[in-house]
Amino acid sequence: MAVQISPSILAADFARLADEAAAVPNADWLHVDVMDYHFVPNLTLGLPVVEALRKATDKPLDCHLMIADPDRWAPRYAEAGAGSVTIHAEAAKAPIRTLREIRALGARAGLALNPATPVEPYEDLLEEVDMLLLMTVEPGFGGQKFLEMVLPKVRRAREMVSRHGGRVWLQVDGGIDEDTIGRCAEAGADVFVAGSAVYGASDPVEAIDKLRAAADR
Ligand code: DX5
Ligand code: ZN
Repeated sequence: MAVQISPSILAADFARLADEAAAVPNADWLHVDVMDYHFVPNLTLGLPVVEALRKATDKPLDCHLMIADPDRWAPRYAEAGAGSVTIHAEAAKAPIRTLREIRALGARAGLALNPATPVEPYEDLLEEVDMLLLMTVEPGFGGQKFLEMVLPKVRRAREMVSRHGGRVWLQVDGGIDEDTIGRCAEAGADVFVAGSAVYGASDPVEAIDKLRAAADR
Protein backbone atom coordinates (compact mmCIF):
# COMPACT_ATOMS: atom_id res chain seq x y z
CA MET A 1 0.00 0.00 0.00
CA ALA A 2 1.12 3.55 -0.66
CA VAL A 3 2.66 5.43 2.24
CA GLN A 4 0.22 7.63 4.18
CA ILE A 5 1.15 10.58 6.38
CA SER A 6 -1.04 11.66 9.29
CA PRO A 7 0.23 14.91 10.88
CA SER A 8 -0.60 15.17 14.59
CA ILE A 9 -2.29 18.42 15.55
CA LEU A 10 -0.92 17.92 19.06
CA ALA A 11 2.10 19.83 17.78
CA ALA A 12 -0.07 22.50 16.10
CA ASP A 13 -1.35 25.80 17.53
CA PHE A 14 -4.59 24.86 19.32
CA ALA A 15 -5.83 28.45 19.02
CA ARG A 16 -5.69 28.22 15.21
CA LEU A 17 -6.76 24.66 14.43
CA ALA A 18 -8.63 25.44 11.21
CA ASP A 19 -5.56 27.24 9.80
CA GLU A 20 -3.30 24.44 10.99
CA ALA A 21 -5.49 21.86 9.23
CA ALA A 22 -5.31 23.95 6.05
CA ALA A 23 -1.51 24.12 6.36
CA VAL A 24 -1.12 20.43 5.45
CA PRO A 25 -2.99 20.01 2.12
CA ASN A 26 -0.70 17.14 1.09
CA ALA A 27 -1.45 15.08 4.21
CA ASP A 28 -3.60 11.95 3.93
CA TRP A 29 -5.18 12.35 7.36
CA LEU A 30 -5.24 14.70 10.30
CA HIS A 31 -4.21 12.85 13.47
CA VAL A 32 -6.21 13.98 16.49
CA ASP A 33 -4.80 12.97 19.89
CA VAL A 34 -7.54 12.73 22.51
CA MET A 35 -6.18 12.51 26.09
CA ASP A 36 -8.09 12.51 29.35
CA TYR A 37 -5.63 12.82 32.30
CA HIS A 38 -6.49 9.21 33.22
CA PHE A 39 -5.15 6.82 30.60
CA VAL A 40 -2.23 9.23 30.08
CA PRO A 41 -0.94 12.08 32.29
CA ASN A 42 -2.02 14.78 29.86
CA LEU A 43 -5.24 16.46 28.74
CA THR A 44 -5.84 17.68 25.21
CA LEU A 45 -9.23 17.87 23.52
CA GLY A 46 -12.45 15.95 23.12
CA LEU A 47 -15.67 15.61 21.17
CA PRO A 48 -16.59 19.32 20.83
CA VAL A 49 -13.24 20.08 19.21
CA VAL A 50 -13.52 17.08 16.89
CA GLU A 51 -17.02 18.21 15.88
CA ALA A 52 -15.72 21.72 15.19
CA LEU A 53 -12.73 20.39 13.24
CA ARG A 54 -15.04 18.19 11.16
CA LYS A 55 -16.73 21.38 9.90
CA ALA A 56 -13.46 23.28 9.47
CA THR A 57 -11.61 20.85 7.17
CA ASP A 58 -12.26 18.22 4.50
CA LYS A 59 -9.30 16.11 5.66
CA PRO A 60 -10.35 12.79 7.15
CA LEU A 61 -9.81 12.79 10.91
CA ASP A 62 -7.71 10.01 12.42
CA CYS A 63 -8.79 10.07 16.08
CA HIS A 64 -6.39 8.40 18.52
CA LEU A 65 -8.19 7.92 21.82
CA MET A 66 -5.78 7.84 24.76
CA ILE A 67 -8.62 7.70 27.25
CA ALA A 68 -9.62 5.42 30.11
CA ASP A 69 -13.07 4.46 28.84
CA PRO A 70 -12.88 4.01 25.06
CA ASP A 71 -15.83 1.57 25.06
CA ARG A 72 -18.08 4.41 26.13
CA TRP A 73 -16.65 7.20 23.99
CA ALA A 74 -15.25 5.72 20.76
CA PRO A 75 -18.65 5.41 19.02
CA ARG A 76 -19.30 9.09 19.73
CA TYR A 77 -16.16 10.04 17.78
CA ALA A 78 -17.37 7.95 14.84
CA GLU A 79 -20.72 9.75 15.04
CA ALA A 80 -18.87 13.07 15.13
CA GLY A 81 -17.53 12.24 11.67
CA ALA A 82 -14.08 10.79 12.36
CA GLY A 83 -12.82 8.74 9.41
CA SER A 84 -10.87 6.49 11.74
CA VAL A 85 -11.20 5.86 15.48
CA THR A 86 -8.39 4.09 17.33
CA ILE A 87 -8.81 2.66 20.83
CA HIS A 88 -6.07 1.37 23.13
CA ALA A 89 -6.03 -2.37 23.86
CA GLU A 90 -4.79 -1.55 27.40
CA ALA A 91 -7.90 0.53 28.11
CA ALA A 92 -10.72 -1.23 26.28
CA LYS A 93 -12.81 -3.66 28.33
CA ALA A 94 -14.83 -4.93 25.37
CA PRO A 95 -12.61 -4.23 22.36
CA ILE A 96 -14.51 -6.47 19.95
CA ARG A 97 -17.84 -4.82 20.69
CA THR A 98 -16.33 -1.35 20.51
CA LEU A 99 -14.43 -2.00 17.25
CA ARG A 100 -17.66 -3.35 15.73
CA GLU A 101 -19.58 -0.28 16.86
CA ILE A 102 -16.99 2.01 15.27
CA ARG A 103 -17.28 0.15 11.97
CA ALA A 104 -21.07 0.04 12.11
CA LEU A 105 -21.02 3.84 12.35
CA GLY A 106 -19.00 4.04 9.14
CA ALA A 107 -15.51 4.76 10.48
CA ARG A 108 -12.36 2.66 10.21
CA ALA A 109 -11.61 0.82 13.45
CA GLY A 110 -8.12 1.07 14.92
CA LEU A 111 -6.46 -0.83 17.77
CA ALA A 112 -3.43 0.77 19.47
CA LEU A 113 -0.72 -0.95 21.49
CA ASN A 114 1.70 0.76 23.87
CA PRO A 115 5.42 0.06 23.38
CA ALA A 116 5.46 -2.64 26.10
CA THR A 117 2.27 -4.39 24.93
CA PRO A 118 2.97 -7.49 22.80
CA VAL A 119 1.17 -7.79 19.47
CA GLU A 120 0.82 -11.59 19.36
CA PRO A 121 -2.24 -11.82 21.67
CA TYR A 122 -4.18 -9.66 19.20
CA GLU A 123 -3.73 -11.82 16.10
CA ASP A 124 -7.23 -13.27 16.44
CA LEU A 125 -8.70 -9.75 16.63
CA LEU A 126 -7.26 -8.68 13.26
CA GLU A 127 -10.53 -9.48 11.47
CA GLU A 128 -12.21 -6.80 13.60
CA VAL A 129 -9.59 -4.16 12.87
CA ASP A 130 -8.82 -1.83 9.94
CA MET A 131 -5.62 -0.42 11.42
CA LEU A 132 -3.13 -1.52 14.05
CA LEU A 133 -1.29 1.37 15.75
CA LEU A 134 2.05 0.51 17.30
CA MET A 135 3.16 3.29 19.63
CA THR A 136 6.83 4.13 19.20
CA VAL A 137 6.86 6.31 22.36
CA GLU A 138 4.92 6.00 25.61
CA PRO A 139 1.66 7.81 24.85
CA GLY A 140 0.94 11.20 26.41
CA PHE A 141 3.23 13.79 24.88
CA GLY A 142 4.61 14.95 21.56
CA GLY A 143 8.29 15.49 20.93
CA GLN A 144 9.57 12.32 22.62
CA LYS A 145 12.44 10.20 21.39
CA PHE A 146 11.60 7.27 19.08
CA LEU A 147 11.88 3.86 20.80
CA GLU A 148 14.01 1.65 18.54
CA MET A 149 12.98 -1.42 20.56
CA VAL A 150 9.52 -1.32 18.93
CA LEU A 151 10.91 -2.05 15.43
CA PRO A 152 11.03 -5.87 15.86
CA LYS A 153 7.37 -5.72 16.93
CA VAL A 154 6.53 -3.74 13.78
CA ARG A 155 8.17 -6.54 11.77
CA ARG A 156 6.21 -9.23 13.59
CA ALA A 157 2.99 -7.24 13.18
CA ARG A 158 3.62 -6.94 9.43
CA GLU A 159 4.06 -10.73 9.21
CA MET A 160 0.81 -11.23 11.14
CA VAL A 161 -1.07 -8.80 8.92
CA SER A 162 0.31 -10.45 5.77
CA ARG A 163 -0.81 -13.88 7.01
CA HIS A 164 -4.32 -12.43 7.24
CA GLY A 165 -4.38 -11.05 3.70
CA GLY A 166 -2.59 -7.72 4.20
CA ARG A 167 -5.78 -5.67 4.49
CA VAL A 168 -4.99 -4.09 7.87
CA TRP A 169 -3.01 -0.82 7.87
CA LEU A 170 0.01 -0.63 10.17
CA GLN A 171 0.49 2.77 11.80
CA VAL A 172 3.39 4.02 13.91
CA ASP A 173 3.16 7.05 16.20
CA GLY A 174 5.80 8.82 18.23
CA GLY A 175 9.20 10.26 17.33
CA ILE A 176 8.63 9.78 13.59
CA ASP A 177 10.91 12.06 11.59
CA GLU A 178 13.02 11.97 8.43
CA ASP A 179 15.57 9.79 10.21
CA THR A 180 13.27 7.19 11.85
CA ILE A 181 10.53 6.90 9.22
CA GLY A 182 12.66 4.85 6.81
CA ARG A 183 13.37 2.18 9.45
CA CYS A 184 9.66 1.98 10.30
CA ALA A 185 8.72 1.64 6.63
CA GLU A 186 11.37 -1.01 6.10
CA ALA A 187 9.96 -2.91 9.11
CA GLY A 188 6.51 -2.84 7.49
CA ALA A 189 4.64 0.25 8.71
CA ASP A 190 2.57 2.08 6.07
CA VAL A 191 0.77 4.89 7.95
CA PHE A 192 2.96 7.42 9.74
CA VAL A 193 1.93 9.91 12.41
CA ALA A 194 4.23 12.90 12.77
CA GLY A 195 3.67 15.82 15.10
CA SER A 196 6.83 17.83 15.72
CA ALA A 197 8.37 16.75 12.40
CA VAL A 198 5.48 18.42 10.53
CA TYR A 199 4.15 21.26 12.68
CA GLY A 200 7.57 22.05 14.15
CA ALA A 201 8.96 22.55 10.63
CA SER A 202 9.07 25.99 9.03
CA ASP A 203 7.33 24.54 5.96
CA PRO A 204 4.88 21.74 6.91
CA VAL A 205 4.08 20.92 3.25
CA GLU A 206 7.74 20.39 2.45
CA ALA A 207 8.17 18.39 5.68
CA ILE A 208 5.38 16.00 4.61
CA ASP A 209 6.90 15.59 1.13
CA LYS A 210 10.27 14.78 2.69
CA LEU A 211 8.75 12.27 5.12
CA ARG A 212 6.90 10.57 2.27
CA ALA A 213 10.07 10.39 0.18
CA ALA A 214 12.08 9.03 3.11
CA ALA A 215 9.44 6.34 3.75
CA ASP A 216 9.30 5.38 0.07
CA ARG A 217 13.03 4.82 -0.30
C1 DX5 B 1 1.72 10.84 21.65
C2 DX5 B 1 0.75 11.05 20.52
C3 DX5 B 1 1.40 11.35 19.24
C4 DX5 B 1 2.21 12.63 19.22
C5 DX5 B 1 3.36 12.42 18.30
O1 DX5 B 1 1.07 10.31 22.74
O2 DX5 B 1 -0.05 9.90 20.34
O3 DX5 B 1 0.46 11.35 18.17
O4 DX5 B 1 1.47 13.74 18.78
O5 DX5 B 1 4.18 13.51 18.35
P1 DX5 B 1 5.68 13.47 17.79
O6 DX5 B 1 5.58 13.17 16.33
O7 DX5 B 1 6.20 14.83 18.09
O8 DX5 B 1 6.40 12.38 18.54
ZN1 ZN C 1 -1.30 9.83 18.49
